[in-house]
Amino acid sequence: MIVFNTISETHKYLAALAYNNKSIGFVPTMGALHSGHLSLVKQAREENDIVAVSIFVNPIQFNEAKDLKGYPRNTEKDLSLLENLLSSEDFIFVPTVEEMYPKPVDKKYDFGALGEVMEGSSRQGHFNGVGIVVNRLFRIIQPDRAYFGEKDFQQIAIIRKMVELENLQIHIISCPIIREKDGLAMSSRNQLLSSSQRKNAGILFKSLSDAQSLSANHTVQETCKIISRMINAEPEFDVEYVDFVNEATLQSINSWNEADSIRCFLAVRADKIRLIDNIKIYPFSQ
Ligand code: PAJ
Repeated sequence: MIVFNTISETHKYLAALAYNNKSIGFVPTMGALHSGHLSLVKQAREENDIVAVSIFVNPIQFNEAKDLKGYPRNTEKDLSLLENLLSSEDFIFVPTVEEMYPKPVDKKYDFGALGEVMEGSSRQGHFNGVGIVVNRLFRIIQPDRAYFGEKDFQQIAIIRKMVELENLQIHIISCPIIREKDGLAMSSRNQLLSSSQRKNAGILFKSLSDAQSLSANHTVQETCKIISRMINAEPEFDVEYVDFVNEATLQSINSWNEADSIRCFLAVRADKIRLIDNIKIYPFSQ
């Protein structure tokens, strides 16, 4: 694999690939890679001639300065993990902030109702920053396919909307959530949890799994209340939101038969660390 830090050297390399008609699968990341990221890279490796991975902690998608400052970074380790999975023609794009943003950015996306709920309302400006960076990365890498994890399910919907708004011809592929043994969704932020927070963080997946069984004989509102209480009963965790939504529109539902596909989303605070997770719900099935 080859590592590029600048747009111009990436473009030079891409020109040769285009000449040879090679398909490109792209995995954008913010680094601190774990098995969740690597599952996307593996899928991209299987489905494309060339795999491109970007590692860039995008400052404009952080709505809290402390979160940006504390975000885990370990590019050397990331590169050695990728080395094991990638071929000699694959490449990693690791730009600096100046390379990505030579001038101040003022673009404002309108993602409609998709951008106003859950992470959109909890983290002001977050999805605008995601849309801007992924659009820039897409224009630099020019992939045929781009891979995103369902861990950030709302992000995938936002990216699909951005691709539509920008009129890009890129196939967005969603990949399943990879979890730790106790069910905790893998996340770069998990390494910031204290050992006791980490020990108890299995409650997030447990409550999502319980939501499935509770849906058989409780209303949406009751289920929401029960699992919020379950999580809040752990002294180190505070629920920010629990929401049952129509998977297609991401808007809240009031009853189980209001949508064909339903997903439960949650955001939980463990002191300064924010964890999110989600699960598909099949009501009436248990
Ligand atoms: P980051 O949090 O590094 O995640 C990069 C990709 O890995 C995202 O598509 C995310 O959904 C996926 N991912 C993370 N944890 C996962 C897990 N446990 N299972 C499966 N996939 C997982 O998401 C971002 O970076 C940024 O917002 C980015 C898209 C790179 C734009 O800056």
